[in-house]
Amino acid sequence: MCGIVGYVGFRRAADLVVEGLRRLEYRGYDSAGLAVLDDEGRIDVRKAAGRLARLESLVRDQVPEASIGIGHTRWATHGAPTDGNAHPHLGGCGTGHSSVVHESLAIVHNGVIENYRGLKTRLEAEGYVFRSETDSEVIAHLVDSCLKQALETGSRVTDEPADSPWVVAVREAIAQLRGTYGLLVLFAGRPDLLVAARLGSPLVVGVGDGEHFIASDASPLAGHADRIVYLADHEVAVITPDTLRVIHRDSGRVEHSVLPLELSAADVGMGGYSHFMLKEIHEQPETIRAAMRGRLSRDDATAVFGGLNLTPAQLQHVNRIVLTGCGTSWHAALVGEYLIEEFARLPVEVEYASELRYRNPPIDEGTLLFAITQSGETADTLAALREVKRKGHPTLAICNVVGSTIANEADGGIYLHAGPEIGVASTKAFTSQCVVLALLALYFGRLRHMSYEKGLEFIAALERLPGLVTEALEADTAIRTIAEKYRNASTFLYLGRQYNFPVALEGALKLKEISYIHAEGYPAAEMKHGPIALVDQLTPSVFLIPQGAVYDKVILNLEEIKARKGPVIAIASPGDERVRELADDVIEVPDAPDFLQPIVEAIPLQLLAYHIAVLRGCDVDKPRNLAKSVTVE
Ligand code: G6P
Repeated sequence: MCGIVGYVGFRRAADLVVEGLRRLEYRGYDSAGLAVLDDEGRIDVRKAAGRLARLESLVRDQVPEASIGIGHTRWATHGAPTDGNAHPHLGGCGTGHSSVVHESLAIVHNGVIENYRGLKTRLEAEGYVFRSETDSEVIAHLVDSCLKQALETGSRVTDEPADSPWVVAVREAIAQLRGTYGLLVLFAGRPDLLVAARLGSPLVVGVGDGEHFIASDASPLAGHADRIVYLADHEVAVITPDTLRVIHRDSGRVEHSVLPLELSAADVGMGGYSHFMLKEIHEQPETIRAAMRGRLSRDDATAVFGGLNLTPAQLQHVNRIVLTGCGTSWHAALVGEYLIEEFARLPVEVEYASELRYRNPPIDEGTLLFAITQSGETADTLAALREVKRKGHPTLAICNVVGSTIANEADGGIYLHAGPEIGVASTKAFTSQCVVLALLALYFGRLRHMSYEKGLEFIAALERLPGLVTEALEADTAIRTIAEKYRNASTFLYLGRQYNFPVALEGALKLKEISYIHAEGYPAAEMKHGPIALVDQLTPSVFLIPQGAVYDKVILNLEEIKARKGPVIAIASPGDERVRELADDVIEVPDAPDFLQPIVEAIPLQLLAYHIAVLRGCDVDKPRNLAKSVTVE
């Protein structure tokens, strides 16, 4: 969702800010804007609804050469995606009769201000004139109001940044906000100062030599800064070209850790692929290896995790696991349910995070919650985690983005190490989540009933997985040909059983997300209880039918579709003549044990969705209406 970029240093800020906003496009947005200071310290704002190209055309020639600036990509919540509602918003005092008399500052904001109506009424009574329908604009005027007071009551520019009027103003303003914010403030007449603040919406600071970058995630920093500071909730950062001070909003100065930034410009580039999604699909042999690296112990025939932060006794006493997440991460949770129940014989419940947060289910002692999330920022997943944590149960995160809110708030967790996932439709994060859940099944299995030999077999199968995924990717060209045949279909069914049922859901979601074709995933046998009514000659069914425990059962379901003249695309084992005779099109995937099939079978489904979307001319990496990281409820 919304993205923030800021720069203070010695280079042309407008270029860096726009480049940073490009790197945040993947989060999803519908308008963009930027503010810099002109030679006389006045604020120059450019804003444009729609894609970044519009903003770039406004910025190309006539923007001041300032070396300080802030920018934003907005995903509308309060007010339509118009030029006027785009950020930055200016804070300044109007007389109540005319518009702004002076503009003292500009802000960009991620998050939602819940008490904005009350604040707006008060500020309007003070004479502020609002020019947008957003909740964010109240922050701009509120900081301005606090700044006037701070200047009047004699706060001085001191060596202690916490006491300077600009910082005092931001601290006092945010103390009055209810809701969430990632906030960045640029002040007129202060070409050397940015103030950032965070509560519930991430912000990072990139540290360079004589320059600092601020962003809502690390990707705009790659290639520009080699160190990173993750701001925590309630922290305020006071940033100049050469200095960074981090202050707690209420209690004054705090220490902060400067960490190496392990993200290169190549990590956030397309690497010769036509889309990020395609690049990320092809990265999977490596990302799967990364998810397992250092986590397999042949000596103990188990998995090893560094960051669970639970004692062996606590882990021994786990008698129930709750897996929660949203979207694709929820599908990975379903795969996890099959894995953990089969190998660890532990009862698992999978809950949509958006339901769990309000459902108030009974949770016994011995229950362990895993929040599964690529971004670590999904609002519903965060709320579900907080709710369970509040009740005193241990919470762990399975997360990709290092330093994200959920990674920080969970008691411990497991990182995917998949590198940045930029395509909005999740691909490599899904397979890595499944790998981590397989590792957990092994871990809890070995804590309970699983034998040493079984553990070693499990490890050997996992180690073959990257090779199987490489083989599965070889079907790319064949899948493109199949995509051409079916690109105009208006409904697809995705059918699979057992381990492949969640993959059917995920395959349908991928197609929906990026090609805007209606698709439904079902357990193959359930199809006769309703969805079969949809089957006709124009409605393709994608069958997941590899050799395995339920192969014969799925063949029966496939025959039921063929009897109704429905076209079938089968994802099947190599050389399966029985399937070849029945299906209209076959995509071969290498044989894998049942429990690893979700990972191997996901590959052709990702490629099928990708090619159909490209052939239909869809914006694969930035599908309409979707956001990569959904930070609102
Ligand atoms: C959004 C994205 C999905 C993603 C879901 C959960 O809806 O578009 O691709 O699966 O959020 O995101 P998370 O970052 O929590 O895994």
